Amino acid sequence: MTVQAAIPLGITVQVLAASPDDSAALVCPTVILGPPDGPEALDRLAAASDVITFDHELVDVGQLRRLEAAGQALHPSAATMAVAQDKGEQHRRFAAAGLPVPAHTFVSGVAELIAFGKRHGWPVVAKACRGGYDGRGVWVLPEPHAAQQLLDRAAAAGIGLLVERWVPIEREIAVLVARRGDGTSAVYPVVETVQRDGICHEVLAPAPLGADLTAAARRLALAVAEAVDVTGILAVEIFVTEGTLMVNEIATRPHNSGHFSIEGCVTSQFENHLRAILGWPLGSTALTAPAAAMANILAGPNPVDLAGALPEALAIEGVHVHLYGKAPRPGRKVGHVTALGDDIGDARERAVRAAAVLTGRAPAHITS
Ligand SMILES: Nc1ncnc2c1ncn2[C@@H]1O[C@H](COP(=O)(O)OP(=O)(O)OP(=O)(O)O)[C@@H](O)[C@H]1O
Ligand SMILES: [Mg+2]
Repeated sequence: MTVQAAIPLGITVQVLAASPDDSAALVCPTVILGPPDGPEALDRLAAASDVITFDHELVDVGQLRRLEAAGQALHPSAATMAVAQDKGEQHRRFAAAGLPVPAHTFVSGVAELIAFGKRHGWPVVAKACRGGYDGRGVWVLPEPHAAQQLLDRAAAAGIGLLVERWVPIEREIAVLVARRGDGTSAVYPVVETVQRDGICHEVLAPAPLGADLTAAARRLALAVAEAVDVTGILAVEIFVTEGTLMVNEIATRPHNSGHFSIEGCVTSQFENHLRAILGWPLGSTALTAPAAAMANILAGPNPVDLAGALPEALAIEGVHVHLYGKAPRPGRKVGHVTALGDDIGDARERAVRAAAVLTGRAPAHITS
């Protein structure tokens, strides 16, 4: 999707990909094959690039620092990526900046975890500091008994654990910020993210919040952008709880919560990411319609022939289908659908229906 945004701006993109089947490798004119933390592959990428940026966080910060020291432009910087790839570092950074995060601690032993549960109540939420995504690496522990097994497994796998208070979430929202190296920023409309089992299923823009909470969410996202000194797109995932806001986690790259912006905003997150890392003027983040809804295509238990199902999805009025060229293994995010409209209920119904055709599931019941 970044390549699509780069073409009309005359930007040539080369991608470092672990496999020729990676979505980006399938559409990028120049592909360097190698691991994201392999010094040799990174050197080849650096030699061919004016600016290096990221579409995931699984990178070796030591290697990034080495490239930076050699004069390579990295946006976001190695220091920002070090925070982005570690949920523990994020909490430390935000708490130090006075920004609201769930009560949390870092545990190495079961006694500490149980003491935290006693103090804040059960359940508690344990998270792998690094490497989690789509709810993998997040465990809700209902009571002290569940703690020992998880700690043993984490210790065996060498995973650092963060433990958070279980937050009674009213809504999950996200705010995207495009920020240049000089601090100039543009904030996207606040969106609601609909999560099931720790996985984002839908994104609704704008989020149905009052003016005060919307303004507070925008201010919070800008403060987070400053705290991590990001260049490029930043996504801030936020919990609305008891009428207040709490930062859950961040991503310092184009993010699933901003995919709606391809059709739903004057300038997509992908284009503004490129503009931001190149120090170019940022484009308008205004909505192109009163409402935009995005539904992820999460492959169902019985894989669907995507090409075969596509005509039925495209027959639904006004839906924009994006397939990522991924084999539809159960649970895998293989694409998304966006629909615009005057009314969020109508846009959502169409996006969800088209995504359901492509996942082979009945459309999930829309509850709110
Ligand atoms: N402290 C908490 N209290 C209650 N629910 C939580 C808490 N932390 C996380 N969750 C739930 O679990 C989901 C996944 O958590 P988190 O965003 O930390 O994990 P992730 O796997 O990195 O997510 P992503 O899907 O964004 O990659 C959240 O969106 C939220 O629904
Ligand atoms: Mg998340």
